[in-house]
Amino acid sequence: MLYIIDTANVDDIRRCNEFYPIDGVTTNPTIIAHEKRDFIPLIKEIRTIIGDDKMFHIQTTATTAEEIVKEGHELQEIVGGEFYLKIPVSPEGLKATRILSREGIKVTETAIFTQQQALIAAKAGASFVAPYVNRLDNIVSDGAKVVEEITEILHGYKLPCKVLAASFKNVEQIHKISTVGGDAVTITPDLFDKLVYHPLTYYAIDDFEKDWESIYGDKSISELISEYKG
Ligand code: G3P
Repeated sequence: MLYIIDTANVDDIRRCNEFYPIDGVTTNPTIIAHEKRDFIPLIKEIRTIIGDDKMFHIQTTATTAEEIVKEGHELQEIVGGEFYLKIPVSPEGLKATRILSREGIKVTETAIFTQQQALIAAKAGASFVAPYVNRLDNIVSDGAKVVEEITEILHGYKLPCKVLAASFKNVEQIHKISTVGGDAVTITPDLFDKLVYHPLTYYAIDDFEKDWESIYGDKSISELISEYKG
């Protein structure tokens, strides 16, 4: 499963990129606005941090196919590398997806809430579809089930489109995506930390340290190797 971080905060991106095996960054207008920074320097800085090989998904703010296509070209030129234009699913968005995918600009169709929206976006040429898991759960739907069915449908029709599950509020929602075969998740840095953390792990580490110190004091393995080698 691909792990992507859903933020435009450069400190968080730098930290996650250093410690976790992330595959890229996703943003949307809400996430970008949250940073209250000049847009172009911000996206260029994010690209510099993650490098050209990691995916960078940036959402269009345009609403007509013509304008969306134009923004796709402009953003591709500015950020380069593994760039994906996020387009909310709509008739204009699907028209733009068809044009851009033919031109070789990769598209992530976003704000997906139904299986049929995903299938149609995939047929239009989207590389990823992004269903909103928590927002589905919030309306007493089942986000993970929707992701599972989308995944099955895309595999069934052998469409070269991946499912990038988005909108998470807890670890259980993310875990469920991995059990239903979702291709990718995009999650906040805070949730990434929670995926990794378990108090029993820290208890175990404390015990290892105490047991080691009881025999070897504060000597590290490297120090013991140096001493052994003389
Ligand atoms: O990537 C889409 C995501 O940012 C939406 O998340 O938490 O606003 O439902 P949320």
